[in-house]
Amino acid sequence: MRSKRFEVLDQRPVNQDGYVKEWPEVGLIAMNSPFDPTPSIKIENGVVVEMDGKCRDDFDMLDTFIADYAIDLANAEEAMAKDSLEIARMLCDINVTRDEVLKYTVAITPAKLVEVVGNLSVLEAMMGITKMRARKQPANQCHVTNVKDNMIQIAADAAEAAVRGFAEMETTVGIVRYAPFNALAIMVGANVGRPGILTQCAVEEATELDLGMRGYTAYAETVSVYGTEDVFMDGDDTPWSKAFLASCYASRGIKMRFTSGTGSEVQMGMAEGKSMLYLEARCLAVTRGAGVQGTQNGSVSCIGVPAAVPGGIRAVACENLIAGMLDLENASSNDQTFTHSDLRRVARSIPQFIPGTDYICSGYSATPNYDNMFAGSNWDAEDYEDWCTIQRDLKVDAGLHPASEEEVVAARNKAARAIQAIFAQLGLPEITDEEVEAGTYANGSKDMPDRNVVEDLKAAEDMLARGVTGIDFVKALYKGGFEDVANSIFQIQKAKVVGDYLHTASMLDSDFHVISAVNSCNDYHGPMTGYQISPERWEKIANIRKAVDPATL
Ligand code: 5AD
Ligand code: CA
Repeated sequence: MRSKRFEVLDQRPVNQDGYVKEWPEVGLIAMNSPFDPTPSIKIENGVVVEMDGKCRDDFDMLDTFIADYAIDLANAEEAMAKDSLEIARMLCDINVTRDEVLKYTVAITPAKLVEVVGNLSVLEAMMGITKMRARKQPANQCHVTNVKDNMIQIAADAAEAAVRGFAEMETTVGIVRYAPFNALAIMVGANVGRPGILTQCAVEEATELDLGMRGYTAYAETVSVYGTEDVFMDGDDTPWSKAFLASCYASRGIKMRFTSGTGSEVQMGMAEGKSMLYLEARCLAVTRGAGVQGTQNGSVSCIGVPAAVPGGIRAVACENLIAGMLDLENASSNDQTFTHSDLRRVARSIPQFIPGTDYICSGYSATPNYDNMFAGSNWDAEDYEDWCTIQRDLKVDAGLHPASEEEVVAARNKAARAIQAIFAQLGLPEITDEEVEAGTYANGSKDMPDRNVVEDLKAAEDMLARGVTGIDFVKALYKGGFEDVANSIFQIQKAKVVGDYLHTASMLDSDFHVISAVNSCNDYHGPMTGYQISPERWEKIANIRKAVDPATL
């Protein structure tokens, strides 16, 4: 006989997910693997000769890079000598400022970073994130993609996402050769919805850099680093090659961050028996050592791996915290489906949603998940009002706010017309009024007519061959009657030339002023300090569409 209770439990979404018991030998352990090294440092004549129990002669390339570039050696001996529990207490002590904590946390080794956060409950890790987040104001990032690579839909979805509050947006492709159109569409659409939004197009690294240099994008983030030498080499890369790529972006004033996250090494089968969090601490040290301003981390696409082991979601919160401890901007994942359970997907986001990170999702799907070409996000367009209601319930600013049907439809329509105009001005294949209308009212690509893909791809290639740049987009928008959008994209290009938004955790406000950890540093030190929701902002967050107004009764 089977228990009826267990028959019901077997059918629950939570039991459709995969789980595994700890297996340290292959790295299937969130943190504190018995094979993780013990923290140590020895410095002779300004050179690290021993780190985390290994002498310099035995360093692999990550150790060498980290020892030479990542650690503040002036304070390293003092910081390494300090009890890890004491540093852990500083992280959640409201009487210790972010700067005081940083003095220690940027001067310790990867093994020590992991030992420090290992002392924290998940609540204390959240308190740490509240204080260690780089920018004072939290924000959010979304994915704007669709199965058809339909540029009218991308523009419309980006415009809607901007109206809903996202500060940063990324697209990617189904078909690689669509990349220039997708990059163009997200940039135009985003800036119709709200001037100053930075956009990117995640594709193969050389193409992505090329698009940035042509002015088709404003930032880059899927520059991956990994925690073991074997995984790094598998991608034909080294910390030095990634650092070189980072400087290429910086040379054009293009914002960029690295990407890493727990689970990638074990997924690649080359974890050296180390815990996921220890390997991620190495990635973050490499990121800091490369001089990169920030990271997209929090397991990211590998979230299924830490989520399958005990304490995995706590470890993900800890990796976001370590990003802040290394003074890095943190786009904190929540960007990949990993569970059948709605309860689990909310619980997974709490450690970033409640404290707030620089970008709580580094990819909230601004489309229904069937159109998400990053393989589906933890949150999608059909959850927009759940997210807003949870913000209202908890009085939390998690980067979004409610929007009315009228404003969304108006923004989508303007974005669709803007991309129609730009295509006409640049002699690209026609965008019809019928497509504009479909994009205005669509939920997803099932609501969009098909395009002539062969003709589009030829035109996209030709556009690159003709040397069309971001400035040509500005001119085309101007001539096409969209002077405000033209100005917005012009201002973003200008900010690149000035190098204005290369600062840590930067974003542009609607007047193209940079808000970053430099001019708006997180100064949280207890109740009523740090980021506070203004009365106007609260009014906006609280005013959800379905709330009954007593005045109308
Ligand atoms: N480690 C490194 N890179 C990652 N990405 C996603 N997850 C990780 C991770 N855990 C990067 C990859 C991928 C893109 C979506 O983000 O480059 O292609
Ligand atoms: Ca992202």
